[in-house]
Amino acid sequence: MVTGAVRILVLSGSTRPASFNRRLAGMAARALRALGAEATEISLADFPLPFVDEDGRAAPPEPAQRLNALILAHQGLFIACPEYNAGYTPLLKNALDWASMCRTDGPGLAGKIVALGGASTGPRGGYRALTQFRAVLELGFGALVIPEMASVPLAHQILTEEGEIADQQADRFFKATIARLHREAARAAS
Ligand SMILES: Cc1cc2nc3c(=O)[nH]c(=O)nc-3n(C[C@H](O)[C@H](O)[C@H](O)COP(=O)(O)O)c2cc1C
Repeated sequence: MVTGAVRILVLSGSTRPASFNRRLAGMAARALRALGAEATEISLADFPLPFVDEDGRAAPPEPAQRLNALILAHQGLFIACPEYNAGYTPLLKNALDWASMCRTDGPGLAGKIVALGGASTGPRGGYRALTQFRAVLELGFGALVIPEMASVPLAHQILTEEGEIADQQADRFFKATIARLHREAARAAS
């Protein structure tokens, strides 16, 4: 039984200062807070990690342990994932793989509610990456990924610097994703 606000960890699969996915992650954190959640926004730039391999399991580096501790301390995650050649970013997979190496009691995201967003400058809003990533998160990491996804196409036109989504459909997807994430994470926490 968890008391208090539901805790959601918010991160982006891009660390570029001008990243559209970082912008989307920031918007998600604000929207979750508006619903009463405690949203912790992190940048993977603060978790520098080498390429993961099996030898790392014996002694995962400090950033991997810190990331795993943050995951454990939250009931849900919002992940904004860019699309690279129709796939999710290696940065995200590497970081989550490392965090999973710190676990001895089950998959890296077991019991966590996850919502995905994706902003891309292309017309599909990173949707191909999101559909692949959700399968990996469910099958490999043991997460419960909600069906709604906040896909934002043509992000350079639609995702404004003021943090708004200037497209009715994409905005509707975003709001539905945030609301469901909050609801399901609260349910999981109770
Ligand atoms: C290696 C690479 C591959 C890309 N492939 C795709 C793609 O398959 N589909 C797409 O919509 N955008 C693609 N893009 C464009 C990205 O969606 C765009 O750069 C986006 O702004 C990246 O996210 P960010 O702004 O959060 O860094 C690609 C970009 C890179 C660097």
